[in-house]
Amino acid sequence: MSVDWSVLDKPVTDLHAAKNPLAGRDVLRLFDLTPEEFHLVLSTALAQKRAWKADPSKVQAEAPYQGRAVGIILEKPSMRTRVSFELAAARLGAHPVIMADTHSAFSRGESLKDTTMVMERFVDALVIRSFAQARVEEIAHWARIPVINALTDDFHPCQGLADFLTMYEHKGDLSRLKLAYVGDGNNMAHTYLEGAAMSGMDCHIATPPSYQPQESYLNEARALAARTGASLTLTTSPDEALAGADVVITDTWASMGSESQHDERAVLFEPYRITMASFEAAAPRALFMHCLPAHRGEEVTDEVMDAPFSAIYDEAENRLHVQKALLSLLMAEN
Ligand code: CP
Ligand code: NVA
Repeated sequence: MSVDWSVLDKPVTDLHAAKNPLAGRDVLRLFDLTPEEFHLVLSTALAQKRAWKADPSKVQAEAPYQGRAVGIILEKPSMRTRVSFELAAARLGAHPVIMADTHSAFSRGESLKDTTMVMERFVDALVIRSFAQARVEEIAHWARIPVINALTDDFHPCQGLADFLTMYEHKGDLSRLKLAYVGDGNNMAHTYLEGAAMSGMDCHIATPPSYQPQESYLNEARALAARTGASLTLTTSPDEALAGADVVITDTWASMGSESQHDERAVLFEPYRITMASFEAAAPRALFMHCLPAHRGEEVTDEVMDAPFSAIYDEAENRLHVQKALLSLLMAEN
């Protein structure tokens, strides 16, 4: 199976088409989408982004989900996710209801079932940032409305959608690119493995030996890669990953929930810092990406963050466009 990236230049005009395969669905990880559906979300995001840039007031006047509501539950801190989902819902005409941190829906110990069953009486889609993947899976099990994972310990599919859209906008056909992810084998690493497998990319993940991505997720990604022509390589050598890379990505060394391990990790991860020297090994005009928030001076230097080849703010902006596309597709009548 080869991936036709020219689909991203074909605008999607009818989100409510009876054939919308995503109506009513959940997205808890990128592999909840087929490669074709992954392209559909990205092409919808691109079309909506262009329409918004051309005439925001026209787009707002045609908002499809007036009178609907989106519940946004954040059990971990957030800035980008909160702002982008709130605006995405509002721009579709839906009312965003945000429950964050200590005031989250689950902070009083109510069962996932009870909270979910009540929430779905009020809202038309649920966005949840949480800890274990099993937690969002259980919420999706109880909910009859679409559930979107806004980051768990294992995956960050919305960030993945934004990042692959950003790569496409900067570099074109993803199947021709080498992606180097250097750092912790965390939720972002799992997400890049899935997106790269769906895009036919040559993806190299470099981590310290005991911080590699989970084997079960790697095996699932490799099974799809065998069909799309993607190549997925794990290594402990940043140099091997960076050699000739078109896209260089890193992430925090201690994710939310692992902050207490920061100091011991900082010693081990030191050789994995992305510096200007990293880019000497990468391909000419290689792109730098980071989902943010970054710890400047730790996983990446200021010079790289602020370099002309850094796409970090484009990625952040694209969170809004991909999540608006995702809500558009999932909240459609089925
Ligand atoms: N990248 C990202 O998800 O950022 P926030 O944690 O600020 O939402
Ligand atoms: N890996 C990071 C991503 C933050 C957006 C974390 O989980 O904290």
